[in-house]
Amino acid sequence: MTTPPNTMRLKSFELATQDIATVDVEALHGLSLGVEWPHRPGDWEALRALGHGVAAIDEIGRVFGSAMWFPHGENCATIGMVITSPRLQTHGGGRWMMERILRQCGERRLILNSTRAAYRLYVSLGFEPQATVYQCQGHATPAAAPLPGLADAVEVLAPADLDEVAALDAAGFGAERPRLMAQLARTAEIRGLRCDGRLVGYAMRRAFGRGLVIGPVVAQGEEEAAALVASLLAGLDGQFVRLDTRQETGPLRSYLEAAGLRLFDTVRTLTRGAPLPTVEPGRPGVYGLAAHALS
Ligand SMILES: CC(C)(COP(=O)(O)OP(=O)(O)OC[C@H]1O[C@@H](n2cnc3c(N)ncnc32)[C@H](O)[C@@H]1OP(=O)(O)O)[C@@H](O)C(=O)NCCC(=O)NCCS
Repeated sequence: MTTPPNTMRLKSFELATQDIATVDVEALHGLSLGVEWPHRPGDWEALRALGHGVAAIDEIGRVFGSAMWFPHGENCATIGMVITSPRLQTHGGGRWMMERILRQCGERRLILNSTRAAYRLYVSLGFEPQATVYQCQGHATPAAAPLPGLADAVEVLAPADLDEVAALDAAGFGAERPRLMAQLARTAEIRGLRCDGRLVGYAMRRAFGRGLVIGPVVAQGEEEAAALVASLLAGLDGQFVRLDTRQETGPLRSYLEAAGLRLFDTVRTLTRGAPLPTVEPGRPGVYGLAAHALS
């Protein structure tokens, strides 16, 4: 009997795209676990309720990739959950799925947050770098004290305040995010800051991944953003909390550091069709992201 060879080439298989809404959430969860992302099945469900996309499926229904887009109003969309299973990376699958969803996005201006692995792909598809995102996370520490002055002004907002929150969010983000606002209003803790009765800052907190995420945070300055975050961190001693911000240094980052939310990783925000709105003191700006996929 001849000895079997030590190596063999397996026949390559074919992938087809399928509407991500029809795919088993556990298979999507397995896909994101495979690239060490923290999403729980519930996080996938929340994202699927907000957006559209494709999954790459083989002949027997196994999931090897995903790419999603999230419309925000008529003219803007964010892109996220772009994953190719590690074994199949660098074979063109990422580009193939991106081309499929870019066609679905049409003429909308686009925003995404790119990992290092995906950067070349996005630049080759016409995206331009805008800013770095600092992913800050950790176990909240008891030292997290509210900033003096502003802390007392922070108030708890209710679903009835949603219209005001949504208007402020649109002013900071640069587009209306009605679906996102409605979904978060059902599940998130919301804090606000008013000036002469007018809402000038808000922040939300919800369950995500390993623990809790604080975002979006929209405010007119870093101190205001820090005060909102401090209010949402109160009583969370020891709990795992994450916040993604584009502030490189300054009062918000110093506050996060003191509260146990240290820099864990960075991604880069890229846009296609229009630049990212700038964040300037005195006008509404995004100080905390809703999620990498939602900006
Ligand atoms: C990013 C990712 C989706 C790319 O998927 P993919 O199927 O490997 O992509 P493709 O094979 O279509 O490659 C697209 C381009 O990216 C390049 N590329 C792929 N992986 C890369 C890596 N790890 N580092 C640098 N470049 C890489 C390829 O060379 C290719 O460029 P080219 O067409 O000029 O040769 C995949 O690496 C992945 O899932 N990574 C983990 C999750 C992640 O970071 N997702 C991106 C979220 S923004």
